[in-house]
Amino acid sequence: MKNVAVYGLSLFAGASLLATICGGCAIPGPRPLVPLPRIETVVPTDNPMTPQKVELGKTLFFDPRLAGDSSISCSKCHDPAKGFSNGTQLSEAYPGTKHWRSVPTVLNAAYASSLFWDGRSPSLEDQAKGPVQAPIEMNQNPGHLVEKLKQIPYYKSMFNTVFQSDVTFDNIARAIAAFERTIVSHNVPFDRYLEGDTGALDGEQIRGLELFMGKANCVACHHGALLDDTLFHATGVPEIEPLTGDSDRIATRHFFAKDAGYANYRIDADYGRELITKSADDRFKFKTPSLREVLDTAPYMHNGAFLTLEEVIDFYDEGGGDMPNKSPLMKPLNLTDNEKNAIIAFLESLSGDPVKITPPELPKKADGTF
Ligand code: HEC
Ligand code: HEC
Repeated sequence: MKNVAVYGLSLFAGASLLATICGGCAIPGPRPLVPLPRIETVVPTDNPMTPQKVELGKTLFFDPRLAGDSSISCSKCHDPAKGFSNGTQLSEAYPGTKHWRSVPTVLNAAYASSLFWDGRSPSLEDQAKGPVQAPIEMNQNPGHLVEKLKQIPYYKSMFNTVFQSDVTFDNIARAIAAFERTIVSHNVPFDRYLEGDTGALDGEQIRGLELFMGKANCVACHHGALLDDTLFHATGVPEIEPLTGDSDRIATRHFFAKDAGYANYRIDADYGRELITKSADDRFKFKTPSLREVLDTAPYMHNGAFLTLEEVIDFYDEGGGDMPNKSPLMKPLNLTDNEKNAIIAFLESLSGDPVKITPPELPKKADGTF
């Protein structure tokens, strides 16, 4: 297949570039870019998917009663109409609190090797228990939640059917995870291209792919099926003031004012991966996120610092932010405007058909109240 040969060559170019930049450091070379595998390949054997389990998980995902004060559902922050994210820089939060990170999409989280910006959760089953209990997200006590759901006949009977058990916190998480595994990309132009449909990408997108693999060296960190590398890097994402209006928006863009240099520029104070590993080597490092479906998941980065893909590319073109332990893979790129546009066109080819989810009708308590 001609396609694959061309692709293999570019990948090789990317790999040798990586070796040049990285010298002797122990960063593994890029994995090939491959289409998204079938979901069956990543379903854990102890939590098989069944239609009823998925339906139960979907209802739980949309049910605000999972929150301590019954005010906020998973779907409020991971909104299907907003790419399963929430469209703002920083996440919404439990009433009276503030969140400090942006909402990653749940789309294709089924394939991720670790979850959260700092990679602190290994599986969807484990992850789902996090937001339920987190004081700044749903602020719920697991025991209370179980009692609350037991009062709702739909949940009592569904847990019985699906798990042959009463409502338990573990099974709440299992059902949600099974539903999340249905939220995956379909009919992605780039996948079709990799599978041999040469017309699936236009000329500009193919140039963008070549830049991604070559001059811009994005592939050094974004590779494999998700275009992530399952690793953590310091790139120097700037701190933000959450936007409330146009004037704020201009203020946060000072970083891009060339004449301001880096003097006015402060990186985000979130310690990232270090909060998990407790190793100062991991300060300011974040998980390389998947680049799939990026068309729908703005703002970008762990704090939503960049509102558009143009801003993301400008950031990389400048070699990222100015910080002591920045990854050696972050270098000024000297991209032309045409090249920047081509990379963005390529990134657009990583988004598939919109994933449509109809919100379920939420079940009531036996007395007919919510
Ligand atoms: C108040 C907003 C909010 C609610 C409610 C919420 N999340 Fe999240 N979610 C976030 C934020 C913010 C992050 C990233 C946090 C971090 O990295 O520290 C996140 C991360 C995730 C991730 C990891 C994605 C990745 O690629 O790393 C998954 C999966 C997820 N949430 C699923 C859920 C589920 C399931 C629920 C309901 C049980 C839920 N979320 C409720 C805001 C929310
Ligand atoms: C040194 C490794 C590295 C390189 C090289 C790299 N990235 Fe990234 N990328 C990351 C990390 C890490 C993040 C998350 C940073 C954060 O949130 O603090 C990220 C985030 C992104 C995001 C935001 C995704 C989201 O959902 O928020 C996009 C888009 C992106 N990169 C595209 C690119 C492109 C295009 C290139 C090449 C010009 C590139 N990256 C080069 C590691 C890298």
